[in-house]
Amino acid sequence: MVAVESGVAPQQDRDDVARRLLDSSETLSYDPTEEVDWDTPLDTSYHGASPEWSTLYGTSYWDEMSPEQQRELTRQEAASVASTGIWFEMILQQMVLRDFYAKDPTDPSFQWALTEIADECRHSIMFARGAAKLGAPAYRPNRVVVELGRLFKSVAFGESAYAAILVAEEVLDVMQRDWMRDERVAPFVRTINNIHVVEESRHMKFAREETKARLQGSGKLRRQVDALVVAIASYFIVTSMVNKDVYANAGLDPERAIREAKANEHHKSMMRSSCAGLMEFLNSAGLLTRSAMWFYKRANLI
Ligand SMILES: [Fe+2]
Ligand SMILES: [Fe+2]
Repeated sequence: MVAVESGVAPQQDRDDVARRLLDSSETLSYDPTEEVDWDTPLDTSYHGASPEWSTLYGTSYWDEMSPEQQRELTRQEAASVASTGIWFEMILQQMVLRDFYAKDPTDPSFQWALTEIADECRHSIMFARGAAKLGAPAYRPNRVVVELGRLFKSVAFGESAYAAILVAEEVLDVMQRDWMRDERVAPFVRTINNIHVVEESRHMKFAREETKARLQGSGKLRRQVDALVVAIASYFIVTSMVNKDVYANAGLDPERAIREAKANEHHKSMMRSSCAGLMEFLNSAGLLTRSAMWFYKRANLI
């Protein structure tokens, strides 16, 4: 859809994209209640995520941990990422539903939007069951972030809503692509990640197209505001992914774990390198302003 960049996306192009997404969803969608092995009890000889993605991997604390502790930590971390995923998917569903309120139901984009909401609904149930099977408690962002999310889901619209959706989906995507292929990760978690990666690739396509289309003809000031709003939303989403309680729940000293995780250069560079493509997109959309960069740097996305 290169044409979109140089002018307003013709309605025909947007219809074609939505139609293709609908076709693809009809061909390849999953029912997690059937596909995921919910019945076999959790095998603790597996990780919950690729160890290299652990917030403590590469620290001296990690080296001191027993393999059992390392696996318990990645299981708690994976459950936390899934729980934050549920929180964000609820925000996303509401934003998309609001965006298409009372629009033309014969429009393929309208039907795609409802398809995406249905996907997210299944995903959230899947993540909820997955986190429970991993033996994790409810992990939620802190109170302030929960309230900021409540505000954002009620008022965000247009390109800022879709660009924020894209950032959250892309960040999750890069991790899950690694986890779904990793034989050290529990098989049921790999299935969950596989389902999510497949279905989210369509969502990301839609989010990119909507972001570009709605930015057409927008002035400098509007882009500055959009860029900042998206960067702040991204900052809170990304920094909420791994809840600080995971360390105590994995039997670690939370103070030391939080300190070492905060200073973990390995984890920061994993995040940065996996977000390179996303940052390139935001840059091409004019959403990587100076003030936005400040937040992306603080979230270690750039
Ligand atoms: Fe999802
Ligand atoms: Fe999604």
